[in-house]
Amino acid sequence: MPGRVVLGVAGGIAAYKACEILRGLTEAGCDVTVVPTSSALKFVGASTWAALSGKPVATDVWTGVHEVPHVRLGQQADLVLVAPATADLLARAAQGLADDLLTNVLLTAHGPVLMAPAMHTEMWQHPATQRNVALLRDRGVRVLDPAVGRLTGADSGAGRLPGPSAIVAAALDLLRRPTREDLAGLRITVSAGGTREAWDPVRFVGNRSSGMQGVELARTAVSRGAEVTLVAGAMEVDPPAGVTVVEVESAAQLHEAMVERAQSSDVLVMAAAVADFRPVAEPAKVKKDGDDGVDLHLEQTTDVLADLVRRRGSSAAAPLIVGFAAETATDRDHLLDLGRAKLARKGCDLLVVNDVGGDAVFGQPTNEVVILGSEGEHQEIPRAAKAEIADAVWDAVAARVRLP
Ligand code: CTP
Repeated sequence: MPGRVVLGVAGGIAAYKACEILRGLTEAGCDVTVVPTSSALKFVGASTWAALSGKPVATDVWTGVHEVPHVRLGQQADLVLVAPATADLLARAAQGLADDLLTNVLLTAHGPVLMAPAMHTEMWQHPATQRNVALLRDRGVRVLDPAVGRLTGADSGAGRLPGPSAIVAAALDLLRRPTREDLAGLRITVSAGGTREAWDPVRFVGNRSSGMQGVELARTAVSRGAEVTLVAGAMEVDPPAGVTVVEVESAAQLHEAMVERAQSSDVLVMAAAVADFRPVAEPAKVKKDGDDGVDLHLEQTTDVLADLVRRRGSSAAAPLIVGFAAETATDRDHLLDLGRAKLARKGCDLLVVNDVGGDAVFGQPTNEVVILGSEGEHQEIPRAAKAEIADAVWDAVAARVRLP
């Protein structure tokens, strides 16, 4: 399995840790070519990279021009890994610049690209860096979240390079499944975003769902070869390319859209935050009347997930059904108890449980979940980008569904 890896090293103090990453990759059997930037060479010299990789080290586009290294290296790599990726490297990669050998390699890479950022906390949290990371992730680049801990000086915070062994493991994982076409032939419907329940023609009751997790599910399913429909409620993010979008507003519309798609789907995923209650809508705009407030009476909506399970009955050709659970738990055991009870109540095949207490989920790029299976299985997914959570959900789906 291990293949050809280009290890890009950008100019940060964590460049010395890339020596250990290089060692880990070569020990796993990878053929590694190191491409340091000129600033990286101020931290660790070319002879160290050459000795550890057992190969000459390409440092600029002008060496060995007859072999066209700026194109060949990227084209031939099974994986391009950049560790550490500095704020400057992330910015140049996001903009598609090609001002040194490493950025040329990134533009010509045919295989997956993995980046492990490391920088000072302010630089990591700066909106410019966050924007660049979002742009790269949107293009399918795997950008790991930096670890939290001691930084270069006496201070500490988010921005440390994740442990070399974790980076090597992530790289080997991508080498194992480079094309990720394992959902090819599956028809998948994902609901995402929040519903809006009108209480008169201009006002509604809504919720805090951003739609990010559902969008990541749809995007990763497309990149793994599935044919995807996104039933989209109110979302703060754009739907991904390559999906059929069905826009809905209320819980009732979402219900109708999902029931209709259920007939022709192999997998249904309910990632939407569906309102549990809706006001009885007034036909005309409610006017202020003196100083009095208004009473909103809320009635229950249909539980879409439970209804999809009910309609499926025991048919063998039925879609696999995945639910999400938003819980506010006091601790891990409590979260699992709540999740198991909800899985039993809803009757779906998989339930992705997340703790929505605090601000750690809504509108955030990362999440931490437990995936529960109807046979009693459970898998903990530590905090990761929502794209990686989505991939873990699809791994669980792929293990259960009969591929066409
Ligand atoms: N869901 C649904 N229809 C609803 C409410 C929720 O299909 N009317 C789905 C959600 O999309 C999610 C799952 O049910 O996949 C669990 O949603 P959650 O909000 O965690 O639970 P509730 O069913 O609302 O239960 P409770 O409020 O008691 O936690």
